[in-house]
Amino acid sequence: MSGREAGTREAGNGAEPGAAAASHAAGIAPEVLEEVAAEIGTPAYVYDGRALDAGVRRWTEAVPPEDILYSVKANSNLSVLRRLASHGIGLEAGTWGEYARARRSGVPSDRVTLGGVPKDETTVRSVLKAGVGLAVFQAEGEVEAAARHADPGRPTPAGVRVLPGIRAGAHPSLETGAADAKFGFAPDEVPAVWRRLAETPGLEPTTLAVHLGSGLDDAAPYVTALDLLLDVAGELGGHGPAVRALDVGGGLGVDYEAGDAEGDPDPGELARRLRRRMEERAGEEAPRLRFEPGRSVCARAGVVLTRVQYGRERGGRPALVCDAGYSDFPRHVLYGAHHDIGPIRGEGRGPADVAVLGPTCESGDVLGVGRSLHGVEADDLLVVRDAGAYGFVMASNYNSRPRPPEVLVDGDDWRPIRDRESLDDLWRGETKHLLDD
Ligand code: LLP
Repeated sequence: MSGREAGTREAGNGAEPGAAAASHAAGIAPEVLEEVAAEIGTPAYVYDGRALDAGVRRWTEAVPPEDILYSVKANSNLSVLRRLASHGIGLEAGTWGEYARARRSGVPSDRVTLGGVPKDETTVRSVLKAGVGLAVFQAEGEVEAAARHADPGRPTPAGVRVLPGIRAGAHPSLETGAADAKFGFAPDEVPAVWRRLAETPGLEPTTLAVHLGSGLDDAAPYVTALDLLLDVAGELGGHGPAVRALDVGGGLGVDYEAGDAEGDPDPGELARRLRRRMEERAGEEAPRLRFEPGRSVCARAGVVLTRVQYGRERGGRPALVCDAGYSDFPRHVLYGAHHDIGPIRGEGRGPADVAVLGPTCESGDVLGVGRSLHGVEADDLLVVRDAGAYGFVMASNYNSRPRPPEVLVDGDDWRPIRDRESLDDLWRGETKHLLDD
């Protein structure tokens, strides 16, 4: 696995390393980007369909498709979900909205997993009623809600999310397996939960799950987590049926500093290490090994296409103000994440001291700093790379800016897969409440 830093590496406010890396990860031709900009405008999210396929294939070459549950939260556009699911993989949905998206994209209920993230009673009830391949519970209230709404005539396979107490090396906001995290049951609580599920008509415990965090580049914490899950599974005899699957969650990172996927942590290597461990420990009786990748499937496949509004000096340093900002793509602001930013043709040049800023009324609206983008002028097009995961899904309407459109490219062809929001979209649900004077 790559020793390079991956995922959501934190960067300071100064110059960032790797600023000149400019190879075009998402493989979208400049002519296509120009056409998109001319026809539907900027900012826009542009995804490369073939890169999405490649992102799934990195997993399907190593893991049977039914054991891969793409995490919908990373990119939940209906056309993207349909494209990814066409490879035979399942989907992990953490909310009723994500579940509904998965189904609306055409994926049957038995290929959807309700993920082990905090859920309210309405979500649990709605999903159990609609049908789901597996529902993972991570707090007592969720188990009790499931007991109230499960249908004894149609049992739902159930999973228990375990809090492993492992700090896996993610950005602090994205560590989810440490002992003080809010997710899951402590290992010693699991037998009672398993028993409760086994005794509840309409629920059938099958799976133990963890999710260690996001943006990881090392297999070691996964191996530690697998060991723990096997230990816990070994203690469930007498509390209900044997464990049929161990779900090690998502979290595999992307080396955002590098221009392409070559050095990214390898799903195949992770799967092999875990399978070997499983065989050593569980032999023939080994449960299935399942994964919930998000970022590693689709981050490389998308860019934010933006037009430079103007250039200016900021405290003696050059800056470019663009029409995409942190409300469109907040990863730098939220996590200090580095995303390569470059012109659509050729490479950026000059000293790595250019700040790339968004248009909203905050000085903190930053897409990247310390970039080699001298010579870039007003009206030029730029791409923020590796924005296919946790991009559009985290966009907001701050400053009443309509969220950008999304576009899917296949070679020289492209088509919109979501419209730019309109003004009506901005005040949907408000106008009927306007009071007459
Ligand atoms: N499974 C569960 C239960 C999760 O909570 C997550 C992500 C995944 C799978 C997928 O993880 P991935 O393979 O994508 O790392 N907004 C942040 C990422 C938050 C991830 C939350 N959970 C970012 O922009 O980096």
